[in-house]
Amino acid sequence: DESERRERIEAARDELGDDVVVLGHNYQRREIVEHADFVGDSYQLSTEAANADADYVIFGGVTFMAESADIITDDDQSVILPSMEASCPMAGMAEALQVDAAWSDITSAAPDETIIPITYMNSYADLKAFCAEHGGLVCTSSNAHRAFEWAFERGDKVLFLPDKHLGENTAHRLDMADATVEWDPWAADGKDAEEVADADIVLWDGYCQVHERFTTDHVDAIRADHPDASVVVHPECRRDVVEAADVVGSTATITQTIEDADPGETWAIGTEIHLTNHLQRWHPEVEVVPLCGDACMDCNAMRQIDPNYLTWVLEELVEGRERNVIEVAPEEQELAQVALDRMLEV
Ligand code: 13P
Ligand code: SF4
Repeated sequence: DESERRERIEAARDELGDDVVVLGHNYQRREIVEHADFVGDSYQLSTEAANADADYVIFGGVTFMAESADIITDDDQSVILPSMEASCPMAGMAEALQVDAAWSDITSAAPDETIIPITYMNSYADLKAFCAEHGGLVCTSSNAHRAFEWAFERGDKVLFLPDKHLGENTAHRLDMADATVEWDPWAADGKDAEEVADADIVLWDGYCQVHERFTTDHVDAIRADHPDASVVVHPECRRDVVEAADVVGSTATITQTIEDADPGETWAIGTEIHLTNHLQRWHPEVEVVPLCGDACMDCNAMRQIDPNYLTWVLEELVEGRERNVIEVAPEEQELAQVALDRMLEV
């Protein structure tokens, strides 16, 4: 049962001491987050991984986050993902080989221009390496606008992958909404070369299945049910939802917004349901409601990190066995590091 599992996790952690650090993304369930040394968004966790001295970084998150932690940490540190099934569907929407094939179509549409590829952190290491190789970088939801500015200082166009909604929301923030075009990698005939030539920002047609489900109907329903409520949403949400909201920001911004709220305020939250549940628990003085009521979704990739797997990887370490180590291939590691370093610099 839960209390027995908690005791086993705590006993293993006592045994392992400073050899282990546990990181928990905001979208992890309570039973994981309560054992985490640090809880945060993907950017915060990547900096925590970079600062960690522990031999083992156990990542409560998804594959792309563990890969980034492996790249950022020293060679003698190991990153462990409690379940190898925890793969973000959006990261899978922009496979490096597929992007490589589209790259020649996109670049030949604008042969005289320099195109800088930017990938969202939510992507695999080989795509991060691809971006570095072509002069680009990585960004997260909290620094996408700065990554775009960095790119436009160096090139004429941006190819943004994989999340079209974060790309579009960032284009709006930079007053460049009219200069975007979507690139559908699944369309048989690609995209009209002329449209690509005219655009400044090419948006890869990927999305997060959790955030894309929020609609303006949810915002209207909340405003009708809770006339005093304010609405905060993640920038992976559709553009019209972001426009209808009061605040937009990464999971760290959402967390901060509730921390800063006055007692008695009501906030509706448009993001993965576990963060909303954590904020309800952490801030009982604020009324925190999920933006889509009972229909809110959890992320099926984040859900794979079952607390029993956390127990297993910890107890195996106590026995001297390293399970589920995430290792990025050395040839990708170096270039992906360049793309991540460029992000950490901007
Ligand atoms: P952030 O942690 O950057 O807000 O990203 C949200 C997300 O979808 C992570 O999978
Ligand atoms: Fe991927 Fe969305 Fe899940 Fe984040 S919430 S891991 S972007 S599917």
